[in-house]
Amino acid sequence: MKLGLVGNPIKHSLSPWIHKQFLQQVKQQGDYHLFETEENQFIATVAQLKQKELTGFNITVPFKQKIIAHLDGLDANAEQIGAVNTVVNENGRWIGYNTDGLGYLEALMDAYSFLFSDNQKRVLVIGAGGAARGIFYTLCQHKFQTVDIANRTMNKAMELKLLNKSKVTKTTCLSFEEAEKQLGQYDLIVQTTSVGMNEDKKVLALDQLTKDTVVSDIVYQPLITTFLAEAQKRGAYIHQGHMMLLYQAKLAFQNWTNREVNVFPLLEDFEQRIKKDG
Ligand code: ATR
Repeated sequence: MKLGLVGNPIKHSLSPWIHKQFLQQVKQQGDYHLFETEENQFIATVAQLKQKELTGFNITVPFKQKIIAHLDGLDANAEQIGAVNTVVNENGRWIGYNTDGLGYLEALMDAYSFLFSDNQKRVLVIGAGGAARGIFYTLCQHKFQTVDIANRTMNKAMELKLLNKSKVTKTTCLSFEEAEKQLGQYDLIVQTTSVGMNEDKKVLALDQLTKDTVVSDIVYQPLITTFLAEAQKRGAYIHQGHMMLLYQAKLAFQNWTNREVNVFPLLEDFEQRIKKDG
């Protein structure tokens, strides 16, 4: 089975290692290659990939939207989100999927099932960029009472809000100041911005955070971000970003192979690898 990843930069990607473990789990032979591509070579790279008889490939920044014009079809999720992270060769037709949002959701369900026990839960998504789209769209399909958005730039939050197609779930767009004041009312807070990835900064003050809240950060380097460390100090539950990375890979692998795989046997080694890279 031939698999791969298109993006830039991807030299340090952990995906080849993850998919090698999944291939071993299902006892299949295969390779997962990195195709790092400059923007002006993107079309040529995709054309070459299609000649290689791959089973499928992943696609990451900055090409998750750009790939769409080069595919033969999209699944409904990818179409709504407007971004693709997984391409499957379906009898010569190249079909795009988005497993980011569903991967995030499945990871959350496995860790904190109480969030899905009724439809009264309130969620805050921080950030309105590319990484927030799949997560926000998917959360809005799961009957939470509210999925609010806090973002520095209000019109980007308003644009993201359009992805809420739910008749049940309400969305309000908030400034950071507004969100900080009402932080205590949320059951789940999801941090999707790149703030805190490299610097020792956190995007929002957590003074009003209450103990029974789940605080989630999609940044996985470091494993415990400044934001999560602060939340933990205040007694909240935390949900780390590397779980989303594993689950989106699991769903991509299942799309390619129709075989179920388990992320938990990978977890300890995976965490060591992230720590070593940090
Ligand atoms: P990604 O694809 O990683 O989500 P993006 O599309 O550039 O990247 O979005 C980055 C997100 O981080 C946005 O929500 C951005 O806020 P703006 O919409 O106001 O630009 C947010 N962000 C980035 N740097 C930030 C900072 N220093 N303070 C607050 N928010 C920041």
